[in-house]
Amino acid sequence: MNVHKIAVLAGDGIGKEVMPEGIRAVDAAAKRFNIGIEWTSFEWPSCDYYLKHGKMMPDDWKEQLDGYDALFFGAVGWPDTVPDHVSLWGSLLKFRRQFDQYINLRPVRLLPGVPCPLANKQPGDIDMMIVRENTEGEYSSVGGRMFEGTDREFVLQEAIFTRTGVDRVLKFAFELAQKRPKKHLTSATKSNGISISMPYWDERVDAMSAGYPEIRHDKYHIDILAARFVLSPERFDVVVASNLFGDILSDLGPACAGTIGIAPSANLNPERSFPSLFEPVHGSAPDIYGQNIANPIAMIWCGAMMLDFLGYTEAHDAMVAAVERCLVDGPRTPDLGGTASTTEVGMAIASII
Ligand code: NAD
Ligand code: IPM
Ligand code: MN
Repeated sequence: MNVHKIAVLAGDGIGKEVMPEGIRAVDAAAKRFNIGIEWTSFEWPSCDYYLKHGKMMPDDWKEQLDGYDALFFGAVGWPDTVPDHVSLWGSLLKFRRQFDQYINLRPVRLLPGVPCPLANKQPGDIDMMIVRENTEGEYSSVGGRMFEGTDREFVLQEAIFTRTGVDRVLKFAFELAQKRPKKHLTSATKSNGISISMPYWDERVDAMSAGYPEIRHDKYHIDILAARFVLSPERFDVVVASNLFGDILSDLGPACAGTIGIAPSANLNPERSFPSLFEPVHGSAPDIYGQNIANPIAMIWCGAMMLDFLGYTEAHDAMVAAVERCLVDGPRTPDLGGTASTTEVGMAIASII
């Protein structure tokens, strides 16, 4: 049996609570489908590690992680002790860049049994794939401050859009749209107000679309796109967006589909030159940490996406089916109106698998 080496990076807050349930579910699927998984846990990156060592990870983190088949990541961030830009640029954002995980794939689905905050929506009405650019765009550390503390003080931060970076995420999104029944792609833009980078993004979308004549494609400015997510999410299939716009849409979409507690994401290096990273869309949720009430479904769904990426589509499908069944008649955490604990939901899903 081929044994896959997975690095477990639970991180901070509820990352530490949902991670055991993600592992439990993957182990159940691995047993059923005869998949070899070897887990190795790391105490970094985390804000606890930072408080002890003055950094989020050891200097040789890249060498330590490079041999793994995948990284299974909980959440990082504890703003009371470490500023968020320090903890995130010292961990997750480094992984995305250094491991060239240029696709952030974020499925958003309204699942049966999940109360939808939008009026008159049925399961199936929300079924989209957000493809978020994950290594450049508005997330750049290029910039600085000058004349600090004087009345001439200013800050400057650049956004970076490269031909390679834009084209590769668009290509991934068009290819994905081609595999889906609706064959529809929406691009998020803001070329009316952001007058240099966003017209460039639009141009690259038009150029890429020429190679995919069978895909219907449209574009919306991010402001009205956000409104349409709420008013008519059924019109979306694949949604491709820059780093920041994709970030915002991928919290908004899951909130429209019930709760961000179930939303997974895959940070992919499609060439497999580096390990890919699988993490919930949500963060460390300091407001609920320590009560064992975080919804573990996002983490479990990430486990399914990880197995899919490793080549085990049947195992993925069985895990997602187990999540769906649990949402219909199993225990629920409070974000879905239930009273069950993280552990109870995780155990229920593992036993269905
Ligand atoms: P958050 O996602 O942690 O929490 C937002 C809200 O959603 C909170 O009310 C929280 O209780 C709720 N929530 C989140 N996950 C849930 C779950 N699984 N079950 C039930 N409820 C859930 O976002 P935030 O409050 O903006 O950020 C908190 C910290 O996490 C910050 O340090 C932030 O930078 C960090 N963060 C990290 C990641 C990551 O590691 N990928 C992602 C987002 C935020
Ligand atoms: C996400 C998170 C991160 C992001 C933060 C924590 C830096 O919000 O994965 O969506 O903005 O990419
Ligand atoms: Mn986010």
